[in-house]
Amino acid sequence: MIELIVPNLGEEEIAAAIDVLRSRQLSQGAVGASFESEFAKLLGVRHVVAVNSGTAAVHCALKAVGVGEGDEVLTTPFTFAATASTVLMQRAKVRFVDIDPRTYNVDLASYAAAATPATKAVIAVDLFGLPCDCAGADTLRSRGIAIVEDACQAIGSERDGKPVGAECDAAAFSFYATKNLVMGEGGALATNDDAIADSARRFRQHGQVGDEFAELGYNYRLTEVLAAIGRAQLNRLNAITQARRANAAFYDEQLAGVPGVTLPCAPGNAVHVYHHYAVLIDRAATPNRRGRDEVRSALAEKGVGSGVYYRKPLHLQPLFGGPQRAGEFPVAERIAAQVLSLPVHPHLSQADRARVVSAFKSAVGA
Ligand SMILES: Cc1ncc(COP(=O)(O)O)c(C=O)c1O
Repeated sequence: MIELIVPNLGEEEIAAAIDVLRSRQLSQGAVGASFESEFAKLLGVRHVVAVNSGTAAVHCALKAVGVGEGDEVLTTPFTFAATASTVLMQRAKVRFVDIDPRTYNVDLASYAAAATPATKAVIAVDLFGLPCDCAGADTLRSRGIAIVEDACQAIGSERDGKPVGAECDAAAFSFYATKNLVMGEGGALATNDDAIADSARRFRQHGQVGDEFAELGYNYRLTEVLAAIGRAQLNRLNAITQARRANAAFYDEQLAGVPGVTLPCAPGNAVHVYHHYAVLIDRAATPNRRGRDEVRSALAEKGVGSGVYYRKPLHLQPLFGGPQRAGEFPVAERIAAQVLSLPVHPHLSQADRARVVSAFKSAVGA
């Protein structure tokens, strides 16, 4: 079986974790601080605040930019639930904006066009590892709207030659077990703003300042063992990214022109890191008239794993409204019905990639 997701972990991570266990300093030590400074250097930002999940990182970012009760926050309906559930954690309101069918993302200009006087912030997602287009950032800023970047899937990606994470007010990263940089669980907030970094540091530590609990906060701390694994992963991040991009380039070349299949795109100013290699399958145009789910079953029969991210856009999830909202975001709904992720992880051999291509072509009847 060629698995959809295989984490890239090795002896370096195992040794680093054991070193921490032997040191007996399991939380709030030097390893976490080193991870923060090394990651900040890689991103070219002033501050990284390590936390225990990507969800915590988005939540810290919203709190730090001042999102609170009753505020409106704009985001995409085509993302993981945590992008938007963190808005609810701040007792604010989520308003979705429909996605671009080519990038599966919402660009900042579209958020600016949809913003109202009630809009406090936007959460721009770099879905599947493709940085969202930031051309509308100045318009949002001139209206006092904060920009939080959900880069949970996009570590290592670049926009205009710079790593994502530096351009928006605060960016959130996830190191969950399936992500390009893996700790198992973990996250980080990146920012150039001293006040945002200070706020996030308080928020991850119960709102504590000195001896006082000054405001509501949480326990969002990252453990030293996970920070040690993260440091080892940072050392191999470039290799991980290059391997994913090489696999994606192979699929781009081999699957180009297959009828009924749309391949992922990357605008010229963006470096896509392919957290997912997500294609669209249009049942009306595949040679054998198979749709996404039948193609997925045919791939499984040939021993090729695949996945659907995301089968149901957020506005159709019970938490955000449910089925009565059907039709509100037609592009997101169409993409959700057609999208399929193929294995793109660094452990694929050339023979594996070739097998994925031939199984996929046969699954669509090409
Ligand atoms: C786009 C997006 N946002 C937020 C998250 C939340 O990250 P975590 O699972 O580390 O809490 C994830 C990942 O799961 C994600 O993919």
